Amino acid sequence: MVAIARLGEHIGEEVRVRGWVYNLRESGKLLFPILRDGSGLLQAVVFQKNVPPELFAQVRELTQESSVEVRGAIRADARAPGGVELDLREISVLQLVPASDPYPITPKEHGIDFLMDHRHLWLRSQRQTAILHVRHQVIRAVRDFFDGEGFVLADAPILTPSACEGTSTLFEVEYFGEKAYLTQSGQLYAEAAALALGKTYCFGPTFRAEKSKTRRHLTEFWMVEPEVAFAQLDDLMHLAERLVAAIISRVLENSRPALKVLERDSTPLEAVQLPFPRLSYDDAVCRLQAAGSTMQWGDDLGGADETLLSKQFDRPVMVHRYPAAAKAFYMQPDPERPEVALCVDMLAPEGYGEIVGGSQRIHDLELLRRRLEENHLAEKDFRWYLDLRRWGSVPHGGFGMGIERVVAWICGLEHIRETIPFPRTIYRITP
Ligand code: 4AD
Ligand code: MG
Repeated sequence: MVAIARLGEHIGEEVRVRGWVYNLRESGKLLFPILRDGSGLLQAVVFQKNVPPELFAQVRELTQESSVEVRGAIRADARAPGGVELDLREISVLQLVPASDPYPITPKEHGIDFLMDHRHLWLRSQRQTAILHVRHQVIRAVRDFFDGEGFVLADAPILTPSACEGTSTLFEVEYFGEKAYLTQSGQLYAEAAALALGKTYCFGPTFRAEKSKTRRHLTEFWMVEPEVAFAQLDDLMHLAERLVAAIISRVLENSRPALKVLERDSTPLEAVQLPFPRLSYDDAVCRLQAAGSTMQWGDDLGGADETLLSKQFDRPVMVHRYPAAAKAFYMQPDPERPEVALCVDMLAPEGYGEIVGGSQRIHDLELLRRRLEENHLAEKDFRWYLDLRRWGSVPHGGFGMGIERVVAWICGLEHIRETIPFPRTIYRITP
């Protein structure tokens, strides 16, 4: 059995291929069933005079998404998808989709709600499999990058007793008579692991009860979170830009066919070269006001501001030192200007918004206690986290990168919902 993507290596040979009927064209005495197997599309040819009449009849009645196994010789054909064609000599139909109950997704246009309701089937489309191929390459690149840099994976729990990123987006669950929450970020645990391992990362699903309906928010998304003992803000920016550059170069190396299916112009991705520009929050505010934004110093950047700003650069831009009051309780204040935090957000180009958010963490016990109190977080819920500042505390920091935001940008997608196999949003938990 040969994967369609590898058929180019079998020209002149007879092969077997398993897959699903993507389409069937008929032209007089010729039938052209097109098969898909997840790795690519293959055009088969059946010439009436070369095959027994039963075989011709069997192919002729094939319906979309019927599952089949075929045998035939491979020949080069520049006009065919994938550059090869299969001269079909034998077929076994595993399941014939009945003409009375046809596959619901046809080549005609369907509305997004219909497609999302049929997400379990929609995944089979060329566009969706291309996106999943890119997602796979992104995740491989992430793991290889950290592995190559000497990071040790230490995953964080999903069920947690307290908030990491503010209490307004927590999903509450009942945990044997107590309240627990789905994790918003593995960071607090990654900090513990960093003081054990030096360089660590966690990578898993995270949850936010985001009540806003935007093109950039999911309620369940995958985040990779490196955390590094002794790292300062500049080290984090250096790490983040190299990670993103490594991902882009991996995708350009391995996912050209997928980008082509998505009609993604790769020129803007090729421009993503090190180093990425760094911009202080103060400078970002000036630029935004000059560009017509009504935002004021002290506000967090809204989605529209992020878009406006990122459009001024041809590669991701790192905005650092936001007002501490607009950011999370754990961020280390700048010793020279305590009103700003030693934090960084990386904004993707082409208006894709924030893909990375990170900071140096407060390493002083008393300061962290004060910040918990100011944020109305109960010290008893963070006792173990405070312990990290009692025994062997060191400056440290890390960041989180949302996989789906990165995939949406790389694929040039309008909406983040197509970047994950089964998206969870405020309006959708099925299929
Ligand atoms: O900026 P965020 O909220 O940072 C944290 O959670 C930190 N604790 C991470 C850390 O320092 N270890 O989220 C980090 C990234 C964002 O930049 C974005 O890419 C993604 O996670 N993200 C989302 N992606 C999809 N849907 C959402 N609702 C997201 N919220 C955040
Ligand atoms: Mg953020």
